[in-house]
Amino acid sequence: MSHHEINIAVFASGNGTNAENLIKYFNDNTESGIRVSLVVTNRAGAGVVERAKRLGVPVEHITRDRFSDHDYVMGILKAHHVEAIVLAGFLLMVPDYLLKYYHDRIINIHPSLLPRYGGKGMFGINVHKAVVEAGDTETGITIHLVDEICDNGRILFQAKVSVDPTDTPEDVEAKIHTLEREHFSRIVALTLAPDL
Ligand code: GAR
Repeated sequence: MSHHEINIAVFASGNGTNAENLIKYFNDNTESGIRVSLVVTNRAGAGVVERAKRLGVPVEHITRDRFSDHDYVMGILKAHHVEAIVLAGFLLMVPDYLLKYYHDRIINIHPSLLPRYGGKGMFGINVHKAVVEAGDTETGITIHLVDEICDNGRILFQAKVSVDPTDTPEDVEAKIHTLEREHFSRIVALTLAPDL
């Protein structure tokens, strides 16, 4: 077993349920050696800010413009000893310098079975609306490595759930959140600390 500590930053733009699940999971499972040392958001008013604060995790607000400032962003990540990044409902593209520095150490969760319903504009409830409108009988989650193309990187894990004919997009969203809660933290742990 490795005792190397791995500090991760969770990047989030929204409500932050996945960020909260990740923080709690790694607080409870200390044997993983993984710890959420920082939450980064591009939206100052996002729900994730309160969730992180409540759990005692530092939050940095970095605007879209500021993200292009390599020295500024790397300074923040280095100050928190960040070795890997997890995107949990983060709606900006990750800048190239982060993709290079954290090569194969940036993980994203997407609320559909990629390659279906991926790409620009496909996030959160928009994805579930598209699934319901298409009359799909199943959907799911995809956890994948991040590369320079939106929703394109190597798939680490997928899980499926059935969509009933009467499901609204909100019903699908609830099912997806359940899947995310069941799997995301575990797959992050397996990916970043495989020799556990
Ligand atoms: C999650 O369902 C996540 O999979 C999705 O946004 C939601 C964020 O919820 N991500 C995307 O759509 C990325 N394109 P949360 O803020 O409660 O974690």
